[in-house]
Amino acid sequence: MPTENKTIQIHYELHDNLETLPKAFQSLILSARDIALQAYAPYSLFNVGAAILLENGSVVTGNNQENMAFPSGLCAERVAAFYAGAQYPDQKFKAIAISVKAEKFEVDQPLAPCGSCRQSLLEYELKQNELIDIFLSGQTGPVIHIKGVQSLLPLHFIENRLKKS
Ligand code: THU
Repeated sequence: MPTENKTIQIHYELHDNLETLPKAFQSLILSARDIALQAYAPYSLFNVGAAILLENGSVVTGNNQENMAFPSGLCAERVAAFYAGAQYPDQKFKAIAISVKAEKFEVDQPLAPCGSCRQSLLEYELKQNELIDIFLSGQTGPVIHIKGVQSLLPLHFIENRLKKS
């Protein structure tokens, strides 16, 4: 078989600011920006906030929690997702907003989640069989809207035979 060249494209919306978004998502982004301010990030001085909107309308927030033994800390997205998974195991994630505030410079551009957070969020999306809306932004500036964690993690790890039959 001849070698095939394949391309994967992802689609996203770029908003100049949050005002062009529905109110529920604007408020989710503001929650992510607020909770970033309470991050425990004394080593990186880089505060990340995540806010998850559940299908029952509850909002679960989280921020990065660092540790002097560096790998022991956890990113904001997973703090929020694991808390939501623990407290509301049957609630679908409708949307997640992620924002950042650095102590030494102004963040006015969106930040995208790290690979481990993408893999963790993907698990919830596959489990609920419904795409999660993702909103990425700095403390100010443009907002990226991506429909589905799968768009952020093409060619992801998925192996159904790992499930018990
Ligand atoms: N961080 C997050 O909270 N989310 C990400 O997606 C990437 C990085 C945190 C981890 C660490 O506390 C700080 O940002 C600097 O890497």
